[in-house]
Amino acid sequence: SAAEKDGHDWFMRKEIFEQPRAVADSLLGRRAADGRLQLDEMRLDDAELRDIDKIIIIAAGTSYYAGMVAKYAIEHWTRISVEVELASEFRYRDPILTHSTLVVAISQSGETADTLQAIRHARMQRSKVLAICNTNGSTIPRESDGVIYTHAGPEIGVASTKGYVTQLVACYLLALYLAQVKGTLFGDEINNVMDQLDDMPGHLETVLSQAENVYDFARAHVDTTSVLFLGRHAGYPVALEGALKLKELAYIHAEGFAAGELKHGPIALIDEGLPVFCIVPPRGRDQLHDKMLSGIQEVRARGARTICLAEVDDDTIEPYADTLIRLPKVPVLLQPLVAVIPLQLFACELATAMGNDVDQPRNLAKSVTVE
Ligand code: G6P
Repeated sequence: SAAEKDGHDWFMRKEIFEQPRAVADSLLGRRAADGRLQLDEMRLDDAELRDIDKIIIIAAGTSYYAGMVAKYAIEHWTRISVEVELASEFRYRDPILTHSTLVVAISQSGETADTLQAIRHARMQRSKVLAICNTNGSTIPRESDGVIYTHAGPEIGVASTKGYVTQLVACYLLALYLAQVKGTLFGDEINNVMDQLDDMPGHLETVLSQAENVYDFARAHVDTTSVLFLGRHAGYPVALEGALKLKELAYIHAEGFAAGELKHGPIALIDEGLPVFCIVPPRGRDQLHDKMLSGIQEVRARGARTICLAEVDDDTIEPYADTLIRLPKVPVLLQPLVAVIPLQLFACELATAMGNDVDQPRNLAKSVTVE
């Protein structure tokens, strides 16, 4: 009923708007009185974590894209090397696992069969397994050595939204905690990122306040048959997630690319009028932003219609954006939290305008318990 959905038409839309609260809940109680980061329920002790020399993240679907973002954060903050692998592929390649490998299984439901089989394989090889999960008492955390629970609350829409952003928060917390244990970041550096995370619920509200603009844009695109998404760095997995949302909900061809790979093939897809979402990295000391800008110019020169997600005071982007969506100023590693929101809103509204069942898309299940 509408009441269950807080007056929204779909659970998915309700869950999109719950994200500021879900992120705030996932951050609650993580700072101890002495200012140090604490992950109480995790169960793995610091001595075990100090010995970790490799991390393998395994997951499926949207959770896999959260894992891809986690790689950027964990490697940058901890200097531990991270692999990210689809749960369905993991066991079959005979992965190198030792007692100093930490396997992180990300699963909203905690019941995905591929992910479950992957952690069973890892534990048989004596690796430690940490679950990042939204469902208390589900199978994956029960069969893991430790768990970080996300606090999204029940997610009903088949396409994951608040599940995804809270997974990102859990991954950032894990990365910072490992940095604290390993001593690769100073306490004030960790506190600084925690302060930035504490600002996120407000930033998410700011992005959500532009929903009507995204909806108008979506409704004007009901006849679209193909959409591309470009990103770099932590924005690349967000591009993949944006494309997945469109496949799941709008049943149209959608692909995400690393913007730097355009010239190695995907640019051949660009055709007159093709909508291309571009996730623009914040301006910083690196050249990410400027390289993204030249990628945008290239697709536009070939007829693409660009929808640019760029930080609020980025005036360099205006000449190249057919549509501009503004993002709050946040560091590149945290940008996925704000950049994913317009993509969720777009997919939800486009599917609605197409007459699709947003909460129960065809052929999909919320939790895939068969391999
Ligand atoms: C299914 C759902 C996706 C989800 C994936 C992984 O395919 O439709 O939305 O991302 O499973 O689910 P999990 O519960 O393991 O995160």
